[in-house]
This record gives sequence, structure tokens and C-alpha cells, in this order.
Amino acid sequence: MTSKAELYDDVRKQIVAVVTGETSHTARYATASCLLRETFGDRYFWTGFYVVDPAKKTELVVGPYQGTMGCLRIPFGKGVCGVAAATGETQLVEDVHAFPGHIACDSRSNSEIVVPVFDSKGELAAVLDVDSTEFGAFDTEDQAGLEAICRDLLTV
Ligand code: SME
Repeated sequence: MTSKAELYDDVRKQIVAVVTGETSHTARYATASCLLRETFGDRYFWTGFYVVDPAKKTELVVGPYQGTMGCLRIPFGKGVCGVAAATGETQLVEDVHAFPGHIACDSRSNSEIVVPVFDSKGELAAVLDVDSTEFGAFDTEDQAGLEAICRDLLTV
């Protein structure tokens, strides 16, 4: 059976193969959300990107995603995505209801991981948000796999 680390490495390679040289960030985010959801199926209830609004710089706006309807805008510092954007650090949350300021776009979501995405200049461009209906669905292996994908996403 293929291990989770191998699955992450395979999907990372697929994403890199598709997006290398692509000039549109939207196309890159759409490809990653699609291939992650295809790979991990129902384990990923919501899979997608919140992008830094170029007009405001301190607010995220929803980008390409797979799943139920997401909130449109999240200020930096608010909720799990907003904290990941403000700190530039991955947020691994076993119980979203215990996270201060959590934004419940869909009440079925119970745990999540949010990984910052930096562009080739090292500036924050977006965050990748993956939600699950299970509590504690994500671990450090998911974190390592998603961080490797996010490192490559805008830089290849
Ligand atoms: N739960 C997130 C909001 C985004 S959605 O779940 C799609 C948060 O608190 O950042």
C-alpha cells in the first residue's frame, strides 16, 4: 500500500509537472486544489486557497477551491487562515471549535490545516486551507507533504 508520504510526493510531482512555467497564479491554485482533492478524496472536505488581496494586502479573498461554499473574505489575524497569513506559519488545528476566532464557513468542518504560500520573491501570496469533518484529521506528515507542495507551487 502506498504510504501517505508517498502520496504527497506523487501529487507534488504531478502538480509541478502541470504548472511549471505557468504565468497565472490562479491556474496554479486551481491545479493544486483539484489534484489534492483527487488524491485524498473525502478525507479532504474543503481544499483550496485564500489569496492575498492585492488592493488591501491585509485581507485574504477566496481563490480556487474544491468543496462546499467558502467565505469570501478573511482579514489577516482572524480565524485559522488569517493567523497563518499574519504569522507566515502553518496552523495545524485538531479542533477548530477550540481555535479562538475560528470562522465557520461550513459547520461540518471539525479540523483543518492551513499552509502559507510564498511567491518567488518570498512574499506571502496565499494560504492553502484543507478542512476535514473528522477531529484531528491531519498530522505532521500532512504538514510536511503540504508544505513541500506549497514551497514548489509558485516557484517552478
Ligand atoms: N475555517 C477557516 C475559514 C475558511 S473555511 O473553512 C473554507 C478559518 O477559520 O480560517
